[in-house]
Amino acid sequence: MDILITGATGNVGCAVLAALAGSGHRVFAGVRDPASAQLPDDVIPVAVDLATGTGPDRRFDAIFLMRPPQIADPAPFRRFLDPHARETRIVFLSVQGAESRGYLPHAKIERVIRDMGFARCFVRPAYFMENLVTTLAPELKRTGRVYLPAGRLGLDWVSARDIAEVIAAALTGATGRDAVTVASGHKLDFAGALATVNAVAGTGFRYVPASLPGYIRHARKQGMGWAMIGVMLLLHFLPRFGRAEAGTGDAETVLGRPLETLDDWAARNKGALRALAGPARST
Ligand SMILES: NC(=O)c1ccc[n+]([C@@H]2O[C@H](COP(=O)([O-])OP(=O)(O)OC[C@H]3O[C@@H](n4cnc5c(N)ncnc54)[C@H](OP(=O)(O)O)[C@@H]3O)[C@@H](O)[C@H]2O)c1
Repeated sequence: MDILITGATGNVGCAVLAALAGSGHRVFAGVRDPASAQLPDDVIPVAVDLATGTGPDRRFDAIFLMRPPQIADPAPFRRFLDPHARETRIVFLSVQGAESRGYLPHAKIERVIRDMGFARCFVRPAYFMENLVTTLAPELKRTGRVYLPAGRLGLDWVSARDIAEVIAAALTGATGRDAVTVASGHKLDFAGALATVNAVAGTGFRYVPASLPGYIRHARKQGMGWAMIGVMLLLHFLPRFGRAEAGTGDAETVLGRPLETLDDWAARNKGALRALAGPARST
């Protein structure tokens, strides 16, 4: 099969490339700048810009489509998809709850894919463990803390590796489902999650709950743009007030094994976590 992976340098895109490595499929990595992107040797770089909706002018059997966090408008996704045959299987990285929350940008993109008549699978993950070593990393490195207006919000922590293996199964036809929720059913707030990580990785991270104005002031001071602040609040503040997502999802059935736990993820990422902590905050 010829498979295009968008967001190929991101948390999930990278892990999808790893999941497809050695599978025998021809894998194309969609990146904004093919000349400079750091990619594995066995993939073919192609130019994709999801802000303008432009991509390679060729046929694919399946496309992994992700929404870069700064893009909320579904229109460029329609432009990007339009040249492709409707038999092309579109596997879209959505979010848990998109099926019932039409205001989410992911829900709007799901609607575009459905209305255009594509063969499809919507992969709807809960909260990424990788946030600890990406989005939350600068604050962890600088101060050793997670500072967010999340209160005691319980999150369902899932790993990009598990999400990517579900996506690889959907791209290659190993599962024919039209939606898969990636969630373990276990909730852990930031205090609990950091205690787990600290115990496994020997780090000394702590959670400091922020007020909403306190967080916005702090984020602006760190140079965070309003669009990213919106994303952070969507993930860490708004869910405190809505109906909590529940259930184990169906990823374990697709994978035929349990999802990776936060303990196991922390052990696998011990080096990156300890590098964030530095010598002063490692035991
Ligand atoms: N974080 C969570 O807990 C969570 C939970 C559920 C769902 N999600 C969803 O997952 C998605 C993020 O996935 P991720 O963490 O794998 O992404 P990520 O690590 O933030 O990476 C973003 C990717 O998008 C690419 N990109 C940025 N702008 C682009 C553009 N204009 N055109 C084409 N590519 C562009 C980047 O490529 P460059 O190398 O060019 O920058 C990079 O590969 C979001 O839609 C988010 O809402 C996140």
